[in-house]
Amino acid sequence: MADTYTAALERSNRLERDIQTNPKKYRVLTGDRPTGRLHIGHYFGSLQNRVRLARLGIPVYIVIADYQVLTDHDAFAEIAQNTKQLAIDYLAAGIKPSEDVFIFPHSYVPEANQLMLPFLTLVTNAELSRNPTVKEEIGSAGLKSVNAGMYTYPVHQACDILFCKANLVPVGKDQLPHLEMTRTIARRFNEKFCTDKAAFPEPEALLSKTPSILGLDGSQKMSKSRGNAIMLSANEDETAALIKKAKTDSERFITYEPEKRPEVANLLMLISLCTAEEPQAIAEKIGEGGGGKLKAVLTEALNEKLRPLRAERKKLEADEAYIRQVLTDGAQKAQKIAACTLEEVRTVMNMKI
Ligand code: TRP
Repeated sequence: MADTYTAALERSNRLERDIQTNPKKYRVLTGDRPTGRLHIGHYFGSLQNRVRLARLGIPVYIVIADYQVLTDHDAFAEIAQNTKQLAIDYLAAGIKPSEDVFIFPHSYVPEANQLMLPFLTLVTNAELSRNPTVKEEIGSAGLKSVNAGMYTYPVHQACDILFCKANLVPVGKDQLPHLEMTRTIARRFNEKFCTDKAAFPEPEALLSKTPSILGLDGSQKMSKSRGNAIMLSANEDETAALIKKAKTDSERFITYEPEKRPEVANLLMLISLCTAEEPQAIAEKIGEGGGGKLKAVLTEALNEKLRPLRAERKKLEADEAYIRQVLTDGAQKAQKIAACTLEEVRTVMNMKI
């Protein structure tokens, strides 16, 4: 597992260099489940990167995985609301919808969903049951019984990625097994059905360069469900109050030692992400100021960094018609692409009557 990760990281670093020189070679698809609003971990870990890729001129398609939510959440009353909140976070973070950049919920693209049936025939039950991310999610979701959607959603994720022939998928480490499944499906599909020319690319993972951001409790990944997150939608006072309660340690003098002092290092890293100064240099400046000063500096830096995003977020929240428009436009663009792919797939599978 560690070796696969190191290999993926090396590939990802090579890709990063190539993207800079040949952005036109790439098409990005990535996305999230609509489980609520996004927090600053999402912002620094993935949103900023998507905006950067779009600015390089790479087509960026963002899927909101509203079907996938059904696999591990019993609650579905809020899906549409969450979908819209997610779109607001993307737009506020700087995603600008255009011909080549769009956001869509996958439930709105029937032609892409239809790829699920042939794709399911290309993988085995054993392969589905082995997926480490799925296994972990089954463990942590506390489901009474495991529905088949849970085992098969990585195949559905392959539909998300392959319907538009994306070749670059910016994801976190936990998504690597799904990407491997997508590559396997693409390869098997091409081998089985395509004699002349491959129908699908084997997409590559682009791993985030931002170190994993811990929650304010300092012990685990930032996540809304663990109650240790700062939401992008929080206001400045709420942000200050959350940071005030953040865990530090008993040593007064501030130093940057990620191994020995993970909580303090995490707060320094967050400041660094806001100001682009090195965490060591920030630690040296704070030094004797201790935890109180550290938190004050972070509050100021983060509120300042997020001010434009939060102002934009407010405007967008007040304009539901626009958000709906962005999503339906995105779905329409996705559908057009998916219809072409489905037609091609039908042809190579000898199903055209
Ligand atoms: N599985 C992803 C998650 O849980 C969401 C997702 C669905 C996705 N389809 C995708 C991510 C396609 C990247 C590409 O967050």
